[in-house]
Amino acid sequence: MKEGKIGVAILGLGTVGIGVVDILSKNRAMIFNRSGVDLEVKKVLVRNPNKKRDIDLSPEMYAKDLEEILQDQDIDIVVELIGGLEVAKEYIVKALEAKKAVVTANKAVLAHFGAELFDLARKNEVPLYYEASVGGGIPLITPLTESLVGNTITSVMGIINGTTNYILTKMTTEGRSFAEVLDEAQSLGYAEADPTADVDGLDAAHKLTVLVALAFDTHIQLSDLHCEGIRKIDTMDICFAKDLGYAIKLLAVGKKTELGIEARVHPTLIPLNHPLASVNNVFNAVFVESEEVGELMLYGRGAGRYPTASAVVGDIVSAARVLSGSKTLLPRKFVKGKAVPVTETAGSFYVRLMVEDRPGVLGEIANILGKNGVSVASVIQEGRAQDQVPLVFVTHEVNYGGLCQGLKTIGGLSCVKDVANVIRVERGK
Ligand SMILES: NC(=O)c1ccc[n+]([C@@H]2O[C@H](COP(=O)([O-])OP(=O)(O)OC[C@H]3O[C@@H](n4cnc5c(N)ncnc54)[C@H](OP(=O)(O)O)[C@@H]3O)[C@@H](O)[C@H]2O)c1
Repeated sequence: MKEGKIGVAILGLGTVGIGVVDILSKNRAMIFNRSGVDLEVKKVLVRNPNKKRDIDLSPEMYAKDLEEILQDQDIDIVVELIGGLEVAKEYIVKALEAKKAVVTANKAVLAHFGAELFDLARKNEVPLYYEASVGGGIPLITPLTESLVGNTITSVMGIINGTTNYILTKMTTEGRSFAEVLDEAQSLGYAEADPTADVDGLDAAHKLTVLVALAFDTHIQLSDLHCEGIRKIDTMDICFAKDLGYAIKLLAVGKKTELGIEARVHPTLIPLNHPLASVNNVFNAVFVESEEVGELMLYGRGAGRYPTASAVVGDIVSAARVLSGSKTLLPRKFVKGKAVPVTETAGSFYVRLMVEDRPGVLGEIANILGKNGVSVASVIQEGRAQDQVPLVFVTHEVNYGGLCQGLKTIGGLSCVKDVANVIRVERGK
């Protein structure tokens, strides 16, 4: 059992590696407070230590080779963020054999060598965690492994490649061709210069092997998996699908049927009212069905520096907790606090007044709202020749207290019969 600081080595300091080092140093005290583990990044390993990077590390932080990390008794966790196959696999194997815990975000290595690597981790009695390998920042592997451990999962269906989802979303909403949108995705950095792994479905297939293994306790060979990309999708198909009530998405599907396990990646028509149909742009989601919990969807950012690093850091903390022998989650330390009084909060509001149907009413009301700092975004005034008509308006972002004050005065006007309803508008952000 390890006491005191837990030493971490990061292999690869690219998009994700930098995010991990940054979160671990910025949030070290918070992580300690929440989890009881004190994590220190001791070494990093890169191909070219002289390269200019988005992070400043002292030269001593750069290990000269993997051996230096393996020999270091103060390093307990090795985090593989190199990507690719052979080197990554070799380094993971060596780290496990040296009895270091390993965290990886590498779906390709897991798809090809997962079974072997998990056996090795079990043999050496060290954790091998991989939350970021599927769905980037979405907590997916931990819920499937831990929270749903008592569930018989019948299917997993996911949009697990952001690039293809971005392309299909743009083709759907803007009516542009596959080639045109791919070109744009490449210039925005959403697609690689060589987009093959994404658009032909291989990246999703790698991730599907991980999901299938977790859902059905079975490691499927990549070669057994049906894999079809989105190159053949035409805007015409998207339009016809829409007319029929469907969206086209690249789905990775794992299902348990009477015939056995189905594992396939292909473009799919899904009903527009299915939760996966509204997963757009670079977002990912996995829809799980189980006999016990029923339907469940996990949704979020499937890639990017900080979303992915967030998942990697979660794994590092979990591994550290295992190494330090903590058997249960520490009860979190909470400070006593107060919620902000609702009158001090800001928001946009729908207001329905019942007013007299005569000229000048709107002016009187607008005047009072203005005096209370409330500006109106839209107004609906309907009905004539009745003694009371609804006057509906939606405010811009305003202070709720100011609105209440204004409405109190408005409620006292002779032309206003009732302040019938005030409902907050939630726009998401
Ligand atoms: N990017 C994402 O949003 C994302 C999302 C989910 C999962 N992932 C996974 O996370 C992993 C890392 O991805 P990334 O985007 O961070 O990759 P990246 O930006 O290409 O960074 C790779 C890093 O690995 C280093 N490296 C390459 N070969 C090496 C070797 N032989 N020895 C030591 N270091 C070596 C590189 O060193 P130099 O800097 O010196 O060249 C670089 O720092 C991959 O498995 C990827 O699939 C990434």
